[in-house]
Amino acid sequence: MRRFLILLPFVALCAQTPPARIKIDIDRQIGEVDALLFGNFAEHLGRMIYGGIFDEGNPLSDSDGFRKDVMEAVRKLGVSILRYPGGNFSSGYDWKDGIGPRDQRPARLELAWNALETNRFGTDEFLRYAQKIGAEPYICINGGLGTVDDARHWVEYTNEAQHTYWADQRRKNGHDAPYKVKYWGLGNEIDGPWQLGHKSAEDYAKFAVEAAKAMRLVDSSIKLVASGSSNYGANVDWQGWNRTVIAALRGQADYVALHTYINNRDNDLEKFLGNSQNIDRYIETTAASIKAVPSSRPMYIAYDEWNVWYRTSNKEHLEEVYNFEDALAMGMFFNSFFNHADVVKIANLAQMVNVIAPILTNKDGLFLQPIYFPILEYGKQRGNVALETWVSSPTYQLNRRPLNYLDVSATYNAKDRSVYVNVLNRSKTQDLETRIENQEGALSGKAQIWQMNFQDLKATHTFGDDKKVIPTVRDVTPKIEKNSFKYLFPAHSLTILHLRLE
Ligand code: AHR
Repeated sequence: MRRFLILLPFVALCAQTPPARIKIDIDRQIGEVDALLFGNFAEHLGRMIYGGIFDEGNPLSDSDGFRKDVMEAVRKLGVSILRYPGGNFSSGYDWKDGIGPRDQRPARLELAWNALETNRFGTDEFLRYAQKIGAEPYICINGGLGTVDDARHWVEYTNEAQHTYWADQRRKNGHDAPYKVKYWGLGNEIDGPWQLGHKSAEDYAKFAVEAAKAMRLVDSSIKLVASGSSNYGANVDWQGWNRTVIAALRGQADYVALHTYINNRDNDLEKFLGNSQNIDRYIETTAASIKAVPSSRPMYIAYDEWNVWYRTSNKEHLEEVYNFEDALAMGMFFNSFFNHADVVKIANLAQMVNVIAPILTNKDGLFLQPIYFPILEYGKQRGNVALETWVSSPTYQLNRRPLNYLDVSATYNAKDRSVYVNVLNRSKTQDLETRIENQEGALSGKAQIWQMNFQDLKATHTFGDDKKVIPTVRDVTPKIEKNSFKYLFPAHSLTILHLRLE
């Protein structure tokens, strides 16, 4: 009895204190959420280009052959920067095959994906497309089998204003004014043995330094992205790759690229959504390598390929059908990017249409996959400033480390004094009652809640049935007590709280 009496106050306290707390503070700023975090990727692969964005002769296409329904979905998604032409494709690609009269362009064996490349879509088509959807073009040079000359001539073709040979080829092909392509990748995944022209870190660094020098001599205003780690296999020294590349290209390149694809092969939701441990580690160790080499030219991370990818292979042309739990993973990626907003300045979902993509087409139309919706919603926070959050929540063990069930990021929009709190509850079973505590400025008591939650983790969309795994949006008036309020985050849900400060 005496023991029970001693425990009573503790039990009463537990009944009042929610098991989780999130503290937000608009004074604890990480950095701007760059608009370029909402980029995408268009590779010559399967039906990404042909039958995806470019569908000549289809009544759904415009006079350029671009699918109008796809453009509408892509514009709505707010794609800010579009990477092209690969990917693995870029390491065997000769860009000169893809210019000039379409019917005279050579068909080539495409060795990265074992396909036939007609070259009917090339540089001019890509740049016109990027302009039509309002995205910044980002071209990846051939850093595999290509040469420094190929790279500098490509810059000359797109950006030179004088009457040089390659600038005049562009004029002949119908584009008098320079395109002013600002973002250029210095090759793709050159650390991967699967890559055509795979190199050691030292050999790649030598090539990339010379390519950067020559490309900058053509146009000094361009921004360059070095090929960072993509190969995290056992016994692979991916950190060593980044260190060597960063040391050589510090002062030359503006970004170093990271790539990550995650999977749920073990059918373990909490493990799957715990991949942020790896993503955070890749970002933080790369950021440390950048810091270790001082330079007056800032260098950032371009996470220029990321997504869920594991169900399909080249045989199925990488046409993943995404489900609800994949939509949750989108929140996890963005939370990591936002929480490192001082260093992650570009991110490209791989890819945009059909191939590991949020949009799937057929000849007659398209449907939006569940992953489309979180990407769209997080995109509304571009230009905000990311905030540090303090999170206390029940944890689980992953890789022998405790991990909060609640995965959180927050951003602040100073113009309208609103705060976004992005919360992924990774627990498969536990709803988590949480106190959200605000430090600076008074909460107004008005909030909007965007949420994705679905009973069936494996639920997918298809043609004519794509309104199921979608978000709900509602206005609420939470009860504010001492500048804080309680909210229950349901098990396996992604929630964005949009709060107003007075
Ligand atoms: O996005 C599909 C492929 O994944 C890309 O071509 C390559 O860069 C990566 O391995």
